[in-house]
Amino acid sequence: MRSKLQRFADLKTRDNTLEPGKALFDKIIGNWRSLQFKNNNPITLELACGKGEYTIGLAQKFPGQNYIGVDIKGERIWVGSSKAIELNLQNVAFLRTHILEIESLLAPNEVDEIWLTFPDPRPKLRDEKRRLTHPRYLEMYKRILAPKGWFRFKTDNTGLFDYTLETLAQRNDILNLTYTTNLYKSELLNEHHGIKTKFEQKFYEAGESIKYLKFKFDAKK
Ligand SMILES: C[S@@+](CC[C@H](N)C(=O)[O-])C[C@H]1O[C@@H](n2cnc3c(N)ncnc32)[C@H](O)[C@@H]1O
Repeated sequence: MRSKLQRFADLKTRDNTLEPGKALFDKIIGNWRSLQFKNNNPITLELACGKGEYTIGLAQKFPGQNYIGVDIKGERIWVGSSKAIELNLQNVAFLRTHILEIESLLAPNEVDEIWLTFPDPRPKLRDEKRRLTHPRYLEMYKRILAPKGWFRFKTDNTGLFDYTLETLAQRNDILNLTYTTNLYKSELLNEHHGIKTKFEQKFYEAGESIKYLKFKFDAKK
């Protein structure tokens, strides 16, 4: 295994990873298709992608789509980036950033689908603003997601899932909300394409039920 410093050095030289300090990082907003993927295919964004299992799995399954995995931790992104290189996947990119910065990196309507996979639950009330389904994050997702694009969310955490449903219920711009508190026993199971993230595998094996929801934003509101 390469050392942490070697991994950070690797990321600096990799075309499939964007991070602060790289030339493309400052020009990518609005230009993901032309400058990064060099095609006009739809883009799926995975937020809090960790080591990128989901992004990689989807990209293998759907070569006609582009995938961007976002995480703040370079060491985790390195794992996904290495896997994409090993598999010669041209439709995958990783973006190292805090999700609060996402609107400086993705233009309005630039993505066609968003997955949020097993974000940190942040159960303390004082951390509510840091939950990745807090209204301030939802507003950002709404702007970067193309009209009619699905927002999809998987978690094992009941508190975060309930908080998210309550947050969505307080809005007037949520369409087609569908959810299950037990994905693996649900008819929605096919919607995650049989791919487990690292955390999902861990919680699934521990007997936790996996929760899943999807919705669209009403762009007119
Ligand atoms: C519990 S892990 C889940 C990783 C992966 N989705 C999985 O299911 O295996 C949560 C991930 O979210 C990332 N993360 C948390 N808050 C973030 C933020 N505000 N911006 C970017 N990444 C964040 C962490 O670095 C971590 O990799």
